Amino acid sequence: MKIGLLNGPNLNMLGKREPEIYGKLTLDDIYEALKNQAGKEHEIIAFQSNIEGELINFIQLADERGIEFIIFNPGAYTHTSIALKDAISGVKVKVIEVHISNVYKREKYRQKSYISSVCIGKISGFGLESYEMALYYILKKACKK
Ligand code: DQA
Repeated sequence: MKIGLLNGPNLNMLGKREPEIYGKLTLDDIYEALKNQAGKEHEIIAFQSNIEGELINFIQLADERGIEFIIFNPGAYTHTSIALKDAISGVKVKVIEVHISNVYKREKYRQKSYISSVCIGKISGFGLESYEMALYYILKKACKK
């Protein structure tokens, strides 16, 4: 199975960016951890962009690339982007929303997500483990096929 790992703006700065909120791990560390968790049977296709349109392109092309699930941290676009919501609505690929920090413990504007309603579910506040829990769910679903 092919699984997308999609990260939005400023997540390329993980490890350096506000470590008291986002921790010290880098995006590469997260990718490596998920690759190990997925094992050899499954492929993790990772992409990060600071550009909204590039995230939309990744989502639009996911079906034809054979990607079945996307683990998606849209960063601040979570709270602003109707375009990302529309992109997810328009494809078959199933999306899980993840956040490193607990967005409900933070500023009010982070509590609004445009994409939650078109995702399978949302995991927020567990750092790297937010991503690992999303992958846990996907791998469990894959076993039941
Ligand atoms: C984030 C939370 C967002 O509010 C923020 O803009 C981010 C990261 C998280 O993973 O906790 O860039 O998505």
